[in-house]
Amino acid sequence: MCGIMGYVGKRNALPIVIDGLKKLEYRGYDSAGVALLAENGIFLAKKAGRVAELEQHVQGSAFAKASADKSVSDIPKGNLAIAHTRWATHGKPTDINAHPHSDCKKEIFIVHNGIIENHQELKEALQREGHIFSSETDSEVIAHLIERQLIMENKISLEDAVTEALGHVTGTFGVAVISKKDGQKIVAARRGSPLILGVGDGEYVLASDASAIVGVTKQAVYLHDNELVSVSPDGFHIFNLSKKPLEKNIQTIEWDTESAQKGGFSHFMKKEIFEQPETLKNSLRGRLMEDGFAKLGGLEDVKERFLSSKQISIIACGTSYYAGMLGKYFFEEIAGIPVSVERASEFRYRNPVMGPDYTAIFISQSGETADTIHALREAKKRGALTLGIVNVVGSTLARESDAGVYNHAGPEIGVASTKAFLSQIGVLMLIALFLKKKNGASSTNGLDMVHEFKALPSKMEKILKRDSEIKSLAQKYLSYSNFAFIGRKYQFPVALEGALKLKEIAYRYAEGYAAGELKHGPLALIDGNMPVIALAVKDSIYEKVISNIEEVKARGGKVIAIASESDKRIGAIADDVIFIPESLEMLSPMLSVIPLQLFAYHTAALLGLDVDKPRNLAKSVTVE
Ligand code: AGP
Repeated sequence: MCGIMGYVGKRNALPIVIDGLKKLEYRGYDSAGVALLAENGIFLAKKAGRVAELEQHVQGSAFAKASADKSVSDIPKGNLAIAHTRWATHGKPTDINAHPHSDCKKEIFIVHNGIIENHQELKEALQREGHIFSSETDSEVIAHLIERQLIMENKISLEDAVTEALGHVTGTFGVAVISKKDGQKIVAARRGSPLILGVGDGEYVLASDASAIVGVTKQAVYLHDNELVSVSPDGFHIFNLSKKPLEKNIQTIEWDTESAQKGGFSHFMKKEIFEQPETLKNSLRGRLMEDGFAKLGGLEDVKERFLSSKQISIIACGTSYYAGMLGKYFFEEIAGIPVSVERASEFRYRNPVMGPDYTAIFISQSGETADTIHALREAKKRGALTLGIVNVVGSTLARESDAGVYNHAGPEIGVASTKAFLSQIGVLMLIALFLKKKNGASSTNGLDMVHEFKALPSKMEKILKRDSEIKSLAQKYLSYSNFAFIGRKYQFPVALEGALKLKEIAYRYAEGYAAGELKHGPLALIDGNMPVIALAVKDSIYEKVISNIEEVKARGGKVIAIASESDKRIGAIADDVIFIPESLEMLSPMLSVIPLQLFAYHTAALLGLDVDKPRNLAKSVTVE
């Protein structure tokens, strides 16, 4: 996820903002950059790769300049700078696409977090007016919009120019702006992307999270959405985006750097579980249309071929594979196209039937999973259209597939995948709605889907409020070493995912089963020592799942049910129940998976295990 850092004050800004960028590294990024208002103009440095490389580059270019000038010390100095770590969403991770970005005359410099949904139309309009763009990013439009505002209205202040420019933007932003002509100030604003102002003694820092601030000051002002701050060595002023001045309290940040990086959560995994309402919004933003269809820019070029595919194969590993299972259900239900789902590690070594009239979709959070990449190459050899659903922009899978859709989940740091899974489900549903255009016969009402997608984030928040209840359950079942997870239809992949989470971070033996399969073998395992976590939401197959739960109870099994809030019967059947809000059947996995993530998390944390880095596992499995 991108990170913003800014400094204005009495000290040399460059080492302070670079140090701030290092504190933001944990968020994940692929390039970094800085713009410093130096004595002789703007010093700009941008580099793909790590912050350390940017630092070296800054020193190197300063030394090069120093030796050319024959002066002794020419390391750029200045009291005002903005800096950025970029996690690519639009355009590859290159030096040019790194922030800061500037206007045509290189007088205005901006750093931006978030996504400008209408960047394409804004860019085209600005280009028609003669603006020249240097990067592939959505962010650069902001610099040109501010430039246009300053050209159109001669005496306008930088604050007003930024406000007016942001008025044209649809999407999310945390943005910080400096201008050569207004050299004493940083103007920053937010909508949907966090921004905090650190208030020191005659110096101020701006950052996207507290971890980059606490090294300078612990006094901070938290900006809210649609607020703008103008900060100079003399102080700061805050306005809303209707230009009304606001009074804000200065608060004390209680966290140290490490807990600030985790947002106050004890582990990244928990932070990422709690980010999911926001993750879903980010994955859908600008893609789900009000008419119930989906607009997916990344698939436009291959649309014809995709829509006329005879068969779709979804290929992935681990959690991504379970998301793929849901994709099969979505595509067949909504688009009526036959779909097979396969583990990449199996696909690559057999002799699959696949040709040019097939589409193979590869799902991978990292985009670097060796098995999935090799499977992609196999599918290409056979002439299939290859699509990627990838979280990490510019990763191998994103580069090698013909086309695809990014998750926009932001970096996932915990080895156990949580928010990436949720975003994969969201993207798969979007692709199903994209495919729906082909087949008018689907009974799925896209408008209901749009309505429910909008309601899901607050339903997720409701489940997250049950965190301490779920922790108590984890405590109650802490001494058990074997678990079964059961579910049917849309809840079957969720059962598999719940079991995987418990295995990988709590080292408990946990198996996921299609509930209807119990009687074909696994029922023999059931006794009072093997708790069964049953996904029993009110859906089209609810009664069947209740019968499966009864089968478990009849064998002395203990049942923890994940059930709908309106369910009055379940309390009498199950030993314990975690209630969740109701949803459309197809979308309910996005809710029912959350208690399972929290159950696994608390079990592992209570056992004192290394939740974010479980033994024997890696975040990105780049070996076979
Ligand atoms: C999920 O919790 C696991 N860490 C693992 O199964 C993971 O989903 C799998 O290795 C695939 O990774 P990818 O999505 O990056 O390809």
